[in-house]
Amino acid sequence: MKLKLAALTVALGLGLSQAAVAAGEIVIKFSHVVAVNTPKGKAAEYFKKLAEERTKGKVKVQVYPNSQLYKDKEELEALQLGAVQMLAPSLAKFGPLGAKEFEVFDLPYIFDDYNDLHKVTQGPIGKQLLAKLEPKGIKGLAFWDNGFKSFSSNRPMKTPADMKGLKLRIQSSKVLEEEVRALGAMPQVMAFSEVYQALQTGVVDGTENPISNFYTQKMHEVQKNLTLTNHGYLGYAVIVNKKFWDGLPGDVRTTLEGAMRDATTYANQIAEKENNDDLARVKASGKTQVYTPTPAERAAFKKALVPVHQKMSDRIGPDLIKAIYKDTGFNPAQ
Ligand code: LMR
Repeated sequence: MKLKLAALTVALGLGLSQAAVAAGEIVIKFSHVVAVNTPKGKAAEYFKKLAEERTKGKVKVQVYPNSQLYKDKEELEALQLGAVQMLAPSLAKFGPLGAKEFEVFDLPYIFDDYNDLHKVTQGPIGKQLLAKLEPKGIKGLAFWDNGFKSFSSNRPMKTPADMKGLKLRIQSSKVLEEEVRALGAMPQVMAFSEVYQALQTGVVDGTENPISNFYTQKMHEVQKNLTLTNHGYLGYAVIVNKKFWDGLPGDVRTTLEGAMRDATTYANQIAEKENNDDLARVKASGKTQVYTPTPAERAAFKKALVPVHQKMSDRIGPDLIKAIYKDTGFNPAQ
């Protein structure tokens, strides 16, 4: 009993994670909000496998998918408090935490493809962005890909005019709010775990997702139309509680860093294919009509949405936006 109380006192004093290390048993709780069968879900499982194998069971990674433990915003609070040790939130989640530079990833059309994206996430800008999280008690370890978002609703959508008046679920992001407004639609911020029901009951008319999220949340059951706008990117930063990470025995941390490097390679290798496979599944379901915009229709979406860059520039940082344009060759005038 006395021991239990002492352990509890230590746990409260140090944060549960440090207590686990002190007891010689290292547990990493890894919480996320998507299904197991997604790029993030699979990469989390792969990291678990590598980490446990390579530390010969010294480290246990407990993965909690599908918002089982926490919803969007709560996840980050739980990490900062040390109730979980590892997360891979979407990049949009860091703006509300005060790291507004991360909102650059939400800018419509800023990345043409994965190649463009990797120039940023795998280069010096990616490193600098992750470092911004440290004063918040968070250590950024890696960027994991998901994919490019498309709009869905119960209305055929070929041009920006078709979006007018739609109530669209977005993640909590000032940039995404502006994006939706630029289309004459109405943004509605909502936790990911609540989207299916909100679409089903008509609380919102539509939303935007990479196809892997759209399919694995079964949104195709409750959305008649999906237009492959690929208008923005959604991906992740894998993060840990900094105190926990810094407190790990050096050899364990090095092993885990290696496991994370390999899990990152895996994540970024499978993401595009996972999204393509899920698109084929959406089409095969016959429940959602999938529309590919013509080049002229795509240009019209781009024309409507690219002004969001300028509008949000002061908030995100004009230098950061310019540096990304330089890396990717993006030209806002085109
Ligand atoms: C969302 O809220 O739409 C995303 O953050 C879900 C995800 O992929 O983590």
